[in-house]
Amino acid sequence: MAMLSTSLSGPKSATSYCAPEFSGLRRLCPNSNNVNSNFHSQAFLRFCSPRKPLKSVVAMAGTGTFFVGGNWKCNGTRESIAKLVSDLNSAKLESDVDVVVAPPFVYIDQVKSSLTGRIEIAAQNSWVSKGGAFTGEISVEQLKDTGCKWVILGHSERRHVIGEENQFIGKKAAYALGQGLGVIACIGELLEEREAGKTFDVCYQQLKAFADAVPSWDNIVIAYEPVWAIGTGVVATPVQAQEVHVAVRDWLKTNVSAEVASKTRIIYGGSVNGGNCAELAKQEDIDGFLVGGASLKGPEFATIVNSVTTKKVAA
Ligand code: PGA
Repeated sequence: MAMLSTSLSGPKSATSYCAPEFSGLRRLCPNSNNVNSNFHSQAFLRFCSPRKPLKSVVAMAGTGTFFVGGNWKCNGTRESIAKLVSDLNSAKLESDVDVVVAPPFVYIDQVKSSLTGRIEIAAQNSWVSKGGAFTGEISVEQLKDTGCKWVILGHSERRHVIGEENQFIGKKAAYALGQGLGVIACIGELLEEREAGKTFDVCYQQLKAFADAVPSWDNIVIAYEPVWAIGTGVVATPVQAQEVHVAVRDWLKTNVSAEVASKTRIIYGGSVNGGNCAELAKQEDIDGFLVGGASLKGPEFATIVNSVTTKKVAA
């Protein structure tokens, strides 16, 4: 099946791409310029300190806090959302994770008034400028008024089903940031783009559209979501995800700044679930997840949030 062999190929393949070195624990790895090296890095670090208890040392290439978002998409009823909120309220969540959920607009009020303050609320979209005569749209001002702290922009369903384009998405991000919302900026390639060796090019173009529009990256989390993995049950392998995350961080370093590259969270999305999150989370450049289907089940979402523990190594 084609989707199971989606290795990067073509002119900008992993063989011609030189993974950059970043701060933190990667330096301790003997083969730190190899994208597969994290497996060795983790083993190496654990091997060096076998008797020490785990401490909160997190093997992340970046400096940000692990971030997990639940994108509920166009799902739920008052009743099912009340149950989901109740499950989330009783879940035990690791403290060192930023946790966000994105309910459908019409349920944001319900969620805001019933959900624990431990979890912040994101919208799934926002209008590109100040509200007014824009039938069917929701403004950033309204989102803030209902208690949203974040907005998901550039999701593949909006790009490929609704037809939103790079520049328009960049403008939305700039407006939302200007009004004080955090932006979960989604990027990712279609299966045919990956098979044509265009994965990096597509991601870079999408990143550039954000970079050209936004005044600062302070309040942006990048979600790498390969379109072929979204809602398909075909998750990217940890190595596939890691190599794009490294490329994204490298792009930020070259085109924005080393500081932004280090502090910007790059999270993975696409068929993440309770069973595969731990292996993905171990990857050094995976700073969290954007979760669709599995975020509709409170206990499973909590497992994904708590996968941060797999990043912790002996100090
Ligand atoms: P999925 O969706 O986890 O259901 O694949 C992810 C997303 O669209 O953000």
